[in-house]
Amino acid sequence: MSTPTWAQLTNLGVAVLFILSLKALSSPKSARLGTVLGAFGATAATVLLFFTGIELDNLAVIIIMIAIGSVIGWVSARRVKMTAMPQLVALFNGVGGGAAGLVAVVEFLHADGEGSFLFWLFTIVTVIIGSVAFSGSIVTYLKLQEVMTTRPVVLPAGKWVTILVALATVAVAVWAIVNPAFWLILLLLALSLIFGVLFVLPVGGADVPIVISLLNACTGLAVAASGYVLNNVLLLIAGTLVGASGTLLTTLMAKAMGRPLTATLFGAFSGTTAGSTATSNSDRPVRSGAPNDIAIMLGFANKVILVPGYGLAVAQAQSTLRELAELLASRGVDVDYAIHPVAGRMPGHMNVLLAEANVPYEQLKEMDEINPEFASTDVVLVVGANDVVNPAARTDTSAPIYGMPILDVDAAGQVVFLKRSMRPGFAGIENELLFDPKTTLLFGDAKESLTKVVSSLKSL
Ligand code: TAP
Repeated sequence: MSTPTWAQLTNLGVAVLFILSLKALSSPKSARLGTVLGAFGATAATVLLFFTGIELDNLAVIIIMIAIGSVIGWVSARRVKMTAMPQLVALFNGVGGGAAGLVAVVEFLHADGEGSFLFWLFTIVTVIIGSVAFSGSIVTYLKLQEVMTTRPVVLPAGKWVTILVALATVAVAVWAIVNPAFWLILLLLALSLIFGVLFVLPVGGADVPIVISLLNACTGLAVAASGYVLNNVLLLIAGTLVGASGTLLTTLMAKAMGRPLTATLFGAFSGTTAGSTATSNSDRPVRSGAPNDIAIMLGFANKVILVPGYGLAVAQAQSTLRELAELLASRGVDVDYAIHPVAGRMPGHMNVLLAEANVPYEQLKEMDEINPEFASTDVVLVVGANDVVNPAARTDTSAPIYGMPILDVDAAGQVVFLKRSMRPGFAGIENELLFDPKTTLLFGDAKESLTKVVSSLKSL
């Protein structure tokens, strides 16, 4: 039966909501609104289905499953720590891809051998991409959750096995289009699941979130293809939006890390993966300071730049950092926050963290905007950041972060690092800036250190 006009109009409204949601998500100021718009659109699209006259078998099971899924989603999203967000996204994304793949398998059975060429093509594409997104995302989840090693896993002859499985998948797909037999679909499902695992295993370290974003784009494409299979325009639109935005995010993240996407995906086969090396800590002396020394340096400076990194998120020190910034501003110090695009562990991590602490957006300056200012800055306070200020990215061709644009912190008059030890950052390499004569280290948890600096500053 054809879709009633009111339902078509509602579909259009929901599609517009999805587009507005993406638009709002592109700025930290409106990101919360973007999430609400997207969630509202998805809920409306789901509810709509029950009223368009489509015959739904197993209505009770569907409603129970929606309820269970909603509770799991709600509870896990509320409980997840900000630092574990990438693996939650990976898991949800994998489930989305898997669902699209399973829907295609069911539709294949429903068709009972009767279908157009395009129907078989899209069904098979959905099975392949959905399954790859599912198994690949599960491996990224296991890596980020540290259930398995975060390092690249290169199997013996892994490159050739992966190529072989990819070729076999394509061959079976063509065969299944020509001869739509169920056992071929099951074989395709198995091959695609294996390919997803083989594709992600050699990716390690800092590159894993880029692959999550790529698999997210794949899930979008699988959902779009399933929209054709189910004759559902909204799935087509939503899937295409996710596919397009996921692809953009993937290329932007790779660019921000200064690495071509091919190096991210296939680097392990040629031995050039980010985060794959670990340098031992050096015994060279460093200058460490007391909270009072740091408070004096900051309190009597004209201009201070704060550089937040992953350690700020670990320590949950964002509110204390804001308090410090406000205290300095009240003493007439010019204060800004420098935001590196890949500081932390997910896109926009620092923006989200500082927004949580109500830091005004105007004080957050992107890398390109703030870099020329370091040379005229008296003190830079680096709070739990390391790789994003490591000058090795400019000079050391063997470093896994070589080529990544960094914050030019070393151009400032004085640099203060708040960290717990001399351990390296995510990329596992030493930071020469820690040994620079103009650098002072305050060892300890960032929140505790900041609290001490704040109280010293108050008593100045
Ligand atoms: P990192 O280089 O990982 O450095 C974090 C620093 O925080 C470490 O030096 C660590 O030293 C310190 N730290 C950890 N917990 C702390 C605590 N409780 N208190 C104080 N310090 C603490 O972080 P970054 O500079 O933000 O760079 C991000 C890295 O992640 C880059 O390599 C980037 O490529 C990678 N990455 C980013 C993304 C995105 S999209 N943001 C995605 C994947 C990977 P101690 O252990 O000595 O305290």
